[in-house]
Amino acid sequence: LEADLRARLKAAGVVPVLTIDDASRAVRLAEVLCEAGINVLEVTLRTPVALKALSNMTMAVPQAVVGIGTVLDADDLRAAQASGAQFAVSPGATASLLNSAADIGLPFIPGVATPSEMMAARENGLGLQKFFPAEAAGGRQMLSAVRDPLPDVMFWPTGGIDADMAGGYLTLPNVLAVGGSWIAPRTAIGQGDWSLIAARAREAVLLVSTSIR
Ligand code: 3PG
Repeated sequence: LEADLRARLKAAGVVPVLTIDDASRAVRLAEVLCEAGINVLEVTLRTPVALKALSNMTMAVPQAVVGIGTVLDADDLRAAQASGAQFAVSPGATASLLNSAADIGLPFIPGVATPSEMMAARENGLGLQKFFPAEAAGGRQMLSAVRDPLPDVMFWPTGGIDADMAGGYLTLPNVLAVGGSWIAPRTAIGQGDWSLIAARAREAVLLVSTSIR
């Protein structure tokens, strides 16, 4: 499953980070993103309807691979799994979160920002990690610098990345995909501004297809 997720992530290249305030918008949102060519999606656990939005998406848009982000503890992980999430992502990695992820068996991408955190997650068998908050934690320079000491760790940077910065990350050999909310901003989702979201998604797909990776 984790190998499959890696392949899907690499093929997608970009992952929209979606904060959804109205679950009735979720299906159209997933359709718009998939139609534009992006089918790996992260729904943040920052609104009360996040899990409902995720299950609406997975039921109605089976081609979408939908995960839950902003997972903070074991309860969040279990709730994500029960709602049909295909993966879980966290902003950081506590020891108890790493342990529960191993028990639960849902593909888990831990948030890391320093070499020690990267090593701790790696020791737990997690070789795919979310570098967060990417821009604030050192950006592309940081990921380039950890490439030699940690050659078997792959990253999915998110946090402060926009359309102009995404391409630079995608050229790094240890970056599988980049994530961010710029493709589908929370306000645009709330307003049902599908034309803006479709345009940003198409622009991101074009960026992925023209980067050397
Ligand atoms: C996340 O949860 O990954 C981040 O909030 C996404 O960061 P961004 O909003 O800065 O793109």
